[in-house]
Amino acid sequence: GLPNMYQGLLVTQLLLLYCGFCRRPGEPPLDLGSIPWLGHALEFGKDAASFLTRMKKKHGDIFTVLVGGRYVTVLLDPHSYDTVVWESRSKLDFHAYAVFLMERIFDVQLPHYSPSDEKAKMKPTLLHGDLQALTDAMYSNLRTVLLGDTSEAARGWLEMGLLDFSYSCLLRAGYLTLYGVEALPRTRESQAQDRAHSADVFHTFRQLDLLLPKLARGSLSVGDKDHACRVKGRLWKLLSPARLATRAQRSSWLESYLQHLEETGTSEDMQARAMVLQLWATQGNMGPAAFWLLLFLLKNPEALAAVCGELEQLLSRAEQPISQMTTLPQKVLDSMPVLDSVLSESLRLTAAPFITREVVVDLALPMADGREFSLRRGDRLLLFPFLSPQKDPEIYTDPEVFKYNRFLSSDGSEKKDFYKDGKRLKNYSMPWGAGHNQCLGKAYAINSIKQFVFLVLVHFDLELINPDVEIPEFDLSRYGFGLMQPEHDVPVRYRIRP
Ligand code: HEM
Repeated sequence: GLPNMYQGLLVTQLLLLYCGFCRRPGEPPLDLGSIPWLGHALEFGKDAASFLTRMKKKHGDIFTVLVGGRYVTVLLDPHSYDTVVWESRSKLDFHAYAVFLMERIFDVQLPHYSPSDEKAKMKPTLLHGDLQALTDAMYSNLRTVLLGDTSEAARGWLEMGLLDFSYSCLLRAGYLTLYGVEALPRTRESQAQDRAHSADVFHTFRQLDLLLPKLARGSLSVGDKDHACRVKGRLWKLLSPARLATRAQRSSWLESYLQHLEETGTSEDMQARAMVLQLWATQGNMGPAAFWLLLFLLKNPEALAAVCGELEQLLSRAEQPISQMTTLPQKVLDSMPVLDSVLSESLRLTAAPFITREVVVDLALPMADGREFSLRRGDRLLLFPFLSPQKDPEIYTDPEVFKYNRFLSSDGSEKKDFYKDGKRLKNYSMPWGAGHNQCLGKAYAINSIKQFVFLVLVHFDLELINPDVEIPEFDLSRYGFGLMQPEHDVPVRYRIRP
């Protein structure tokens, strides 16, 4: 009964206090919070950025907090991030937490799972020659999704949420790019099927995406649980190896991954689950990133004019009319410094991943200012670049404000020098992580977002329904997962330019 529970809690509390007291010398300040075992879990889950800001004021830029039975050491000094992200994997491990999320959210358990083997196999499929193939396929699929429907109804003004529009276009085109299309050569019918099927994948995926923070924290209601189960089941069917086997123009990323799963003896059911996990890992961030970018442009006419001016210049120099261009070559993509700055600035304001590492052995963490702290085996290390460098007023004046040219030098090239404490920063924004585990899809993702923005600005009229609409607040439960999402969508209208 209750008294017993209280007794249990009391014992736990005493044990924790005891453990707290016997933290060893040289360890960061420890903050257990007031609830035994849970510690700061509730506050952390509700709004991690506010909580960590409060802790930073109290303890400085390194401290340890208790969160749901785990000791988490939080490091917020960007000058010291590099030692962490480049530390050897035998000391700070990236994968333990990823494996935990894999199981809890996506029900994936892989036989003989070796993250390093998997990564060695997959890495080349997102870079170099394969990157070019992905980028070209993405352009063609974006065109199918955005411009393919030439019916009368698709020609007039359409109303939609901007997040829905951006997320749906990028995920659908991204899905077709990685998982393959209906048929080759493409016909009007096969492209119509690509549009319908990818829309089905998006709508199903999005329902799971909305449940994700609760799934990760294990806080689903009974009704949510049912819903999550049904949605997962449906996604496993949509992405089953049997269905994928019939698709054309599959990426080498997909080919390599399926082959790897086969070779490690993964059952068909488990393969389908892994495919859904990968859909989220590869497609969960591009859409929200494009949403914020377009919203900042729509709310900042000067920025929009600067980007459009840059695109017009590019188009006037192009050898053929854009409507005939079946690819947007890397050379063209690489000559959009204004759009690059807009993208960097959007990501600075809205990318908030946790960079987490498991402490595998007791180790000393040297800080850039000369201090050194002991980390204990079994603890978790957490960097949160969203607070610093990205929102740090010492590095960025008016850090809350979108300034489209923040990442442009006066000569129009990319600005790369940012300072804190008088010292130049190596990591001044970290939407892609950094070090050994920096995002492998970074180049492909940047190309894709730029292609999407290019197509939208060149081919569409796009307007806020209410020009005075405020930029929505974040859904605060999503800190840590990557790109933030808005608390609610922003209505827009759009039409293909007549
Ligand atoms: C705007 C889009 C994206 C953002 C902001 C993003 C961000 C990130 C971040 C923060 C990490 C973890 C870094 C760490 O913990 O140190 C990561 C890892 C990764 N990302 Fe992305 N990502 C994006 C799109 C993509 C795409 C499109 C792909 C693939 C097609 C991809 C593939 C990967 C892979 C494979 C890893 C794991 C790297 C490893 O195992 O070391 N990402 N990404």
